[in-house]
Amino acid sequence: MSGATLPQVVRTRAQLREALAEAPRPIGLVPTMGALHEGHASLIQRARRENATVLISIFVNPRQFNELSDFRKYPRDEAADRRLADSAGADIIWIPSVADVYPAGFQTTVTVGALTEPLEGAARPGHFEGVTTIVAILLGLAGAERAYFGQKDAQQLLVIRRMATDLGIGTEIVACPIVREPDGLAMSSRNVRLTPEARAAAPVLRQALLAARARYEAGERDGEALRAAMREMLAKEPLAEPEYVSCASPETLNELDRFDGPALVSMAVRFGSVRLIDNEPLA
Ligand code: PAJ
Repeated sequence: MSGATLPQVVRTRAQLREALAEAPRPIGLVPTMGALHEGHASLIQRARRENATVLISIFVNPRQFNELSDFRKYPRDEAADRRLADSAGADIIWIPSVADVYPAGFQTTVTVGALTEPLEGAARPGHFEGVTTIVAILLGLAGAERAYFGQKDAQQLLVIRRMATDLGIGTEIVACPIVREPDGLAMSSRNVRLTPEARAAAPVLRQALLAARARYEAGERDGEALRAAMREMLAKEPLAEPEYVSCASPETLNELDRFDGPALVSMAVRFGSVRLIDNEPLA
């Protein structure tokens, strides 16, 4: 199917059901909010290699934005998204409306526990309930064998895995590595909103993570020392306003003091109104 025909666009639940009834299995689902870039393309390409049908969803989910201005300013370009999804190998592009995703009378929220409390959960109240609720809906409607998520949003990935396990959702959750710009900046739909000065400064997130990695590889196993190494690197860039830096257990996301296993170092940094996140698993 791949490449031979343009991907089919479906919008309503009925259209999705019809398209999926005829689709060869297994189906790989790639949930996105659009503004697609090479990071999303890597997920679609991986799904292409591992499945007979690749379904990508594009839905800017109002429930997961804790700032209305961020939701309003979120970049939207359906034509460009359709081109990128096509060239990455998607078969079906599912672009539902808010009313189709959350029909009249909708009153269910999916809440995951302690994993959603630190880091992004602490900084963005309500964010993860929005994410888990929409992902539960998308997984339920798609009924795919596999769904693909990026390590870029490391906490999101852990939370979604937890939810899928806890709720007995039959879709396998597949983790994909972070795709970066040549200068190390993790690709993100928000990067286009950086001023030229902030864009030039933004690779400092990667440099801070690499500073922590270098200390880890040299044998450092003190969480506070790794956090300090990241803060020190970020402090060199006056435009960068760190929101948090973390060195946490990759399983529980609890901050580490002295440790002897793997760790996840991560951070959120503001450049004016643009908030960037990045992380690096240390093992
Ligand atoms: P969105 O930010 O569009 O990201 C969709 C998927 O692409 C996520 O799994 C994300 O981790 C992955 N991704 C983004 N940038 C990446 C990069 N540079 N490298 C690798 N993967 C990357 O995440 C969401 O949308 C939403 O929360 C969603 C899961 C769709 C629920 O609304």
